[in-house]
Amino acid sequence: MEILRSISSLQTFLQKCRKHNGRIGFVPTMGALHAGHLSLLSKSIQDNDYTICSIYVNPKQFNNKEDLVSYPRTIQSDIEQLNRIHCDALFLPSDSEMYQSDDKSIEYNFTNLFNILEGEKRPGHFLGVITIVHKLFNLINPDKAYFGEKDYQQLRIIQLFVKKHNLPVEIVSCPTVRNSKGLALSSRNKNLKIDEEKAALNLVKALRNFKNDVIKFNKIHSKDLLEGGDLVRLKHLAIKNLVAHPLIKLDYFEIIASENFRFTNYIDYNENYRALIAVYIGEIRLIDNIAIN
Ligand code: PAF
Repeated sequence: MEILRSISSLQTFLQKCRKHNGRIGFVPTMGALHAGHLSLLSKSIQDNDYTICSIYVNPKQFNNKEDLVSYPRTIQSDIEQLNRIHCDALFLPSDSEMYQSDDKSIEYNFTNLFNILEGEKRPGHFLGVITIVHKLFNLINPDKAYFGEKDYQQLRIIQLFVKKHNLPVEIVSCPTVRNSKGLALSSRNKNLKIDEEKAALNLVKALRNFKNDVIKFNKIHSKDLLEGGDLVRLKHLAIKNLVAHPLIKLDYFEIIASENFRFTNYIDYNENYRALIAVYIGEIRLIDNIAIN
């Protein structure tokens, strides 16, 4: 695998790929690679002639300095894993490579998704994500780029962004990878202590129980609609069970219509919805989500 630390070495690599008419798959990451990233990379390797992974802990998307400092960095093991799966290139830029002092700031506030849920809780986060993803897309110009459903709001914002700007890249969304107990894999899991990791299993439990309750309601009442009052009741039940754990502090538990990412106060069983959750376990913030139907 080639390790490309500068934009000029990236460009030389890309020229080689394009000379051979190679299709380029791109997996942007912030490192601390785990099986979730590897599943995106494997899909890219399968679909394309060349796969480029980027590792860049993007300061602009952290609204909290301590979070940026404590974000896990495991570059040696990342490189070993990338070599093992035969990734073609790793783009590993420095801050000065990615952010020039004369950078013009671009207005990206194109969707209200910037300001709800993760956007509300982490002001500036999605502006930072879109800024860096746009830069990386401009530099690499990939045929396909791969994102995980675990960061569902991020995925939807990137899909909207690409559509709005007619960018010639296909966004491939990939299912969340979980450990054998159901915990969604996340680089932040590396910072969990043993009891915190155990507590974190309650996220997926809450999501799965909520989903089952919604399905059960439909079976029992055989109605096409789960109305506001009933939805709120099931949501409160899920939240009550979740926060019963002493280590868990709820940030949000919300249901959105998958089609337009709007909050919903009912479930129409003919449509698709997602439940999204964010909690603090100690200092660590975890998110997860599940498709409801
Ligand atoms: O999902 C991530 O790891 C980051 O938000 C991304 C897409 C690499 C941008 O920094």
